[in-house]
Amino acid sequence: MLRKKIIAGNWKMNKTATETKVLVPEIKDRLGKFDQAEVVICPPFTALQAAQEALGAHSDIALGAQNLHQAAGGAYTGEISAAMLRDLFCRFVILGHSERRQYCAETDALVNEKARVALKASLRPIICVGETLAEREAGHMAQVVTRQTQGSCAGFAEDDWNNVVIAYEPVWAIGTGKTATPAQAQEVHALIRATVSGFAGKTVADKLRIQYGGSVKPDNAQELLNQPDIDGALVGGASLDAASFVAIIKNACA
Ligand code: PGA
Repeated sequence: MLRKKIIAGNWKMNKTATETKVLVPEIKDRLGKFDQAEVVICPPFTALQAAQEALGAHSDIALGAQNLHQAAGGAYTGEISAAMLRDLFCRFVILGHSERRQYCAETDALVNEKARVALKASLRPIICVGETLAEREAGHMAQVVTRQTQGSCAGFAEDDWNNVVIAYEPVWAIGTGKTATPAQAQEVHALIRATVSGFAGKTVADKLRIQYGGSVKPDNAQELLNQPDIDGALVGGASLDAASFVAIIKNACA
């Protein structure tokens, strides 16, 4: 099954709109015309418009957000709806990132609700799952990742799955410089694919793109992305520098 690789930059709470006007053209210039992989950047909400303007119409690079609120609108001070993101030409949205699960108490049920709202609004969710170091060391990795995958992705229609990306991000590898080995990552990616196959069917699972995230850098991208079930990368820190982000994209496709 040929799955087009998808490399996304998760900027987290970094880069002002002003800084975005510098970074995005730099990424564009370094990447050039590129269709070997799908490339996505996910700036903070406040920089989405600046990023969109810098990308311009018909860009090879797609825009994504880092979260949304599940309600369509109303009295939710400080929140952002799917329609607001669509209006800014977002095509993707990261959901259930471990930092939101940890600091904002997001549960699988909430992530699932947000994912359904995203899909309805034609936003493609990048749904994050991954175990903590304590869970891995206690031998609970498979149980945690299976539960998060089943819970966060429950009840999607078969057509919806064409627009879903899952990101496996072991929490112990995020921002720590500790990358999962290609074999460790491959093991979990295969588990996620088998889990999805179990409840959504083999056709869906075979087409599903599963990204790896956690200290992806130019020098480890190729080996990770060469694994049979690793279909892309969700890149945090290294996506904030145009040279390293573009090197990751190119190495991932080498
Ligand atoms: P990192 O972050 O690449 O800085 O480890 C990845 C992520 O949290 O998406």
